Amino acid sequence: MGGKLPRWRSIISQLADQLNALGERLVSALAEAHDAAALESVRVRFLGRSGEVTALRRGIGSLPPAERPEAGKVVNEAVTVWERLLAATDAALQRRALDAQLDVAIDVTFPAPPARAGSLHPLRRAMEDACAYFERRGFAVVLGDEMETEYYNFDALNIPPDHPAREGLDSFYLASGLLLRTHTSPMQIRTMQAHPPPIAIVVPGKSYRRDSMDARHSPMFNQIEGLMVAPGINMGHLKGMLTGMCREVFGPNQAVRFRPSFFPFTEPSAEVDTTCPGCGGSGSLAGGGCKTCGGAGWIEIGGSGMVHPEVLRESGYDPELVSGWAFGVGIERIAMVRHDMDDIRVLFENDPRVLEQLA
Ligand code: PHE
Repeated sequence: MGGKLPRWRSIISQLADQLNALGERLVSALAEAHDAAALESVRVRFLGRSGEVTALRRGIGSLPPAERPEAGKVVNEAVTVWERLLAATDAALQRRALDAQLDVAIDVTFPAPPARAGSLHPLRRAMEDACAYFERRGFAVVLGDEMETEYYNFDALNIPPDHPAREGLDSFYLASGLLLRTHTSPMQIRTMQAHPPPIAIVVPGKSYRRDSMDARHSPMFNQIEGLMVAPGINMGHLKGMLTGMCREVFGPNQAVRFRPSFFPFTEPSAEVDTTCPGCGGSGSLAGGGCKTCGGAGWIEIGGSGMVHPEVLRESGYDPELVSGWAFGVGIERIAMVRHDMDDIRVLFENDPRVLEQLA
């Protein structure tokens, strides 16, 4: 009589069988999930709100009350394991996707675009070249503040209070009687007051005037000031040094010419012209007149003169014992002539396409 006996199994072990079976199906579903979307649908099917685990949990409600806590615990343990499995699969998929992307994106043999090298700005270069000439001759390079007092910018330079340059129109006044320096000349006074003669300095730097921006003017511009004071200094020394500087920045055949002028802080005073590098001073080119100098053969680069005795006295120097020359040359002017440029704004717009050409 081979009658079948019933098989007694605890409720928990039945639940365990169900969970094991579910777990196996989950594992094989995960093995089939090859992307994030597939993985998500596996998660929804098993662990989602209306997924298989939820169905199983609902069954717990119909168990005898004594069995429920233990059953809940077993299900929770299984869910924890499965969630970890899902997270690991997710991480593996992401890694694989990234690897695939990198395989496509990086071809180490692909020619790289040429690196764009920076270069010195034409203004910086003009300034450094002009300074270098004087530095080699023992001049000190001195920098001053762009903010000045009226005393240093005007009074000490023998510019009287009724001088037109002092009217608000030409200068940018700041609070408390300060202004943006209208030239680099204030550093003449500051240097002489701080050091006894002999003195030989150049002062490169920005200056400001209330001009509207156009092809030839800018409210901010750069100058290089020169000052040399010692016993026996004369205007020939000034012309020699300016000629040397022009040869350094423009080329070996430059000449310098002085045109009588007036500055309150020099006497005599002269505008400084140098040979036009565009036409070599002839004023004409093969095709007609030289555009760089307008046919004059000369270009103006700044002002100069012998330091006024009043300025020497104001700085604590004795005009009976020492004399000196000074000049102020426009850096933009140098750069524009060097690069045959007819609009100063190009120097401030800093278009990389232009700067690359000038480098
Ligand atoms: N400071 C004068 C200007 O800016 C230039 C200058 C400097 C003239 C030194 C003479 C001596 O116009």
